[in-house]
Amino acid sequence: MLLLALESSCDETAAAVVRDGREVLSNIISSQIDLHAVYGGVVPELASRRHLEVINPLVDEALQRAGITAGDLEGVAVTSGPGLTGALLVGVSFAKAFAYALNIPFIGVHHIEAHIQAIRLEQEVAYPFLGAAVSGGHTHLYRVDGIGSYRLLGRTIDDAAGEAFDKVAKMLGLGYPGGPLIDKLAVRYDSGEIKFPRPLLNRTNHDFSFSGLKTAVLSYIQGLPQPLSEQQVGQVASAFQQAAVDVLTAKTLRAAQREELERIVVAGGVACNSGLRQRFADLTAGSGIQVYFPKPLLCADNAAMIAVAADYYLSHGKRSGFDLNAVSSWPL
Ligand code: KG4
Ligand code: ZN
Repeated sequence: MLLLALESSCDETAAAVVRDGREVLSNIISSQIDLHAVYGGVVPELASRRHLEVINPLVDEALQRAGITAGDLEGVAVTSGPGLTGALLVGVSFAKAFAYALNIPFIGVHHIEAHIQAIRLEQEVAYPFLGAAVSGGHTHLYRVDGIGSYRLLGRTIDDAAGEAFDKVAKMLGLGYPGGPLIDKLAVRYDSGEIKFPRPLLNRTNHDFSFSGLKTAVLSYIQGLPQPLSEQQVGQVASAFQQAAVDVLTAKTLRAAQREELERIVVAGGVACNSGLRQRFADLTAGSGIQVYFPKPLLCADNAAMIAVAADYYLSHGKRSGFDLNAVSSWPL
């Protein structure tokens, strides 16, 4: 099917045209980072307003870049949750109106299912696999047996991994979003003598906690003479990333081993992290476990990923009705 896919769950407005849930004809993203950076985080009301301003021209551009017209489309896919309600509503309302005008089906998709299935835009990964969704709102491990078939194995009991990156970056005065900035510093600096805790590493379950790690970083920073030198900032960033990456990789691999899964798909914005990618590669070399990462553009929020599961559902006769609502909190 030739689908228009839309994503507006947080601070990116995104539109894509995807054929058969595989072939990306266009995939464009309008980022709101400039809008929220001055506040150090996403301001929901501002996010909704910006989505509303850009969604029409963005869709026009996505169609144009794909070399098609609206009349060629066979369906519309949209993120309907979880996320910021007002932000989600912009995409959901647009999708309904667009589908109604064209008399084509539309479907609401779970944002985390989309992140986990994004890998299919690049390569086939046989089921079952372990899906690790690591983003600004999620740190969840699933056993994935197919599209629509997810069993939660473990999750964060407090902050999401990306949220911890963002908050630590803020403590260090680095700006927003913090993940990429910490990643860059961790490439340049080592952690020196600093060693932060690895929360829940030795627990036998598959849950994560990042709040204690964040507090440990804050206490460490507060114990230093202010302002911190560039090198101190770099070392703290590096030590934090090492702790976060250690926990994420060790617990994900343990969950895969327990479930006897030989394939792991790591998805979501934090999957862009170079330290995380490297550590997974080091830990699994020669182990028989394959770890898959979508390319960075498909790890972070984008609309092409929304089309993967949507194509499957729509081509199997599933549709959303015009009563589809935005759902801010929605377990997968
Ligand atoms: O998936 P995503 O784009 O949006 C959500 O669904 O949340 O993830 C955004 C999160 C942010 O917290 C951002 O700081 C983090 O992903 N992130 C990173 C990196 N790039 C983005 N975290 C660590 N290292 C990165 N390179
Ligand atoms: Zn996301």
